[in-house]
Amino acid sequence: MAFRVLFCSHVVLSISLLHFATFASSTTPSVAATAEEGKAFYKEAEALLNWKASLDNQNKSLLSSWVGDRPCINWVGITCDDLELGVTRLNLSSFALKGTLYNLNFSSFPNLLTIDLSKNSFYGTIPYSIGNLSNLTHLDLADNNLSGTITPRIGNLSKLLLLHLSRNNISGRIPPEIRQLTSLQNFFWAIYPF
Ligand SMILES: *[C@@H]1O[C@H](CO)[C@@H](O)[C@H](O)[C@H]1NC(C)=O
Ligand SMILES: *[C@@H]1O[C@H](CO)[C@@H](O)[C@H](O)[C@H]1NC(C)=O
Ligand SMILES: *[C@@H]1O[C@H](CO)[C@@H](O)[C@H](O)[C@H]1NC(C)=O
Ligand SMILES: *[C@@H]1O[C@H](CO)[C@@H](O)[C@H](O)[C@H]1NC(C)=O
Ligand SMILES: *[C@@H]1O[C@H](CO)[C@@H](O)[C@H](O)[C@H]1NC(C)=O
Ligand SMILES: *[C@@H]1O[C@H](CO)[C@@H](O)[C@H](O)[C@H]1NC(C)=O
Ligand SMILES: *[C@@H]1O[C@H](CO)[C@@H](O)[C@H](O)[C@H]1NC(C)=O
Ligand SMILES: *[C@@H]1O[C@H](CO)[C@@H](O)[C@H](O)[C@H]1NC(C)=O
Repeated sequence: MAFRVLFCSHVVLSISLLHFATFASSTTPSVAATAEEGKAFYKEAEALLNWKASLDNQNKSLLSSWVGDRPCINWVGITCDDLELGVTRLNLSSFALKGTLYNLNFSSFPNLLTIDLSKNSFYGTIPYSIGNLSNLTHLDLADNNLSGTITPRIGNLSKLLLLHLSRNNISGRIPPEIRQLTSLQNFFWAIYPF
């Protein structure tokens, strides 16, 4: 298995093994959504809006595009690679957001591939329900204030290629379940404040 565990400080993280599509603004759908797709969008929209409402600073100027029930259509930080799959990427890196992940219902995003919430002020623990994101390949929570231990449910993310948890307040040992992540190529974490 090809992951490395680095207990180090001030690491400039570079991702070279992976070739993720650049986050553009939301893709513009070219086909009309069917009723069934609409229902899926509604669930995703509801989950995102519930989470937004739970944030300490919703930073309305930045998440003001998060209104209505079609997250694939011009919601900042949201990308739907294919309209039928719904939300596939969530990138709110450097959004000055503060809050927890507890109110983000991960079960509502079956096709989510990447989460980048790095460089914000998220705190609290990483919820075990994150294990429901079985299609996730990229999880970047670096540069926040997350604490507690890493949930063993991280081992449920069997498609994970990249896991960045550096520069948080995470403690404890790395759960052995991490060995289940046979695709993992990049794993960084460090103990705050290094
Ligand atoms: C919200 O975002 C704007 C633009 O980046 C920033 O100037 C402002 O400080 C942020 N507000 C809060 C409360 O974080
Ligand atoms: C998220 O967006 C930032 C800023 O646009 C970008 O630098 C970063 O590469 C994106 N993350 C991913 C996983 O593409
Ligand atoms: C989370 O989302 C799933 C799927 O959409 C739904 O079944 C469940 O009731 C939601 N949970 C909460 C607490 O809203
Ligand atoms: C993962 O992606 C596949 C293919 O898009 C899809 O069929 C499946 O429902 C997705 N979700 C989960 C939880 O596996
Ligand atoms: C993390 O929390 C500490 C203590 O509450 C605070 O001083 C610091 O600014 C926070 N850092 C971030 C990145 O939010
Ligand atoms: C998925 O989330 C639900 C709560 O929404 C939880 O009961 C369940 O254990 C989670 N599954 C995994 C694999 O984490
Ligand atoms: C998630 O992982 C737990 C143990 O960490 C395991 O008991 C459970 O069956 C897994 N769930 C799925 C859906 O893989
Ligand atoms: C780090 O987490 C511990 C609890 O695990 C807490 O007591 C401490 O205040 C946290 N430090 C910061 C800077 O948030």
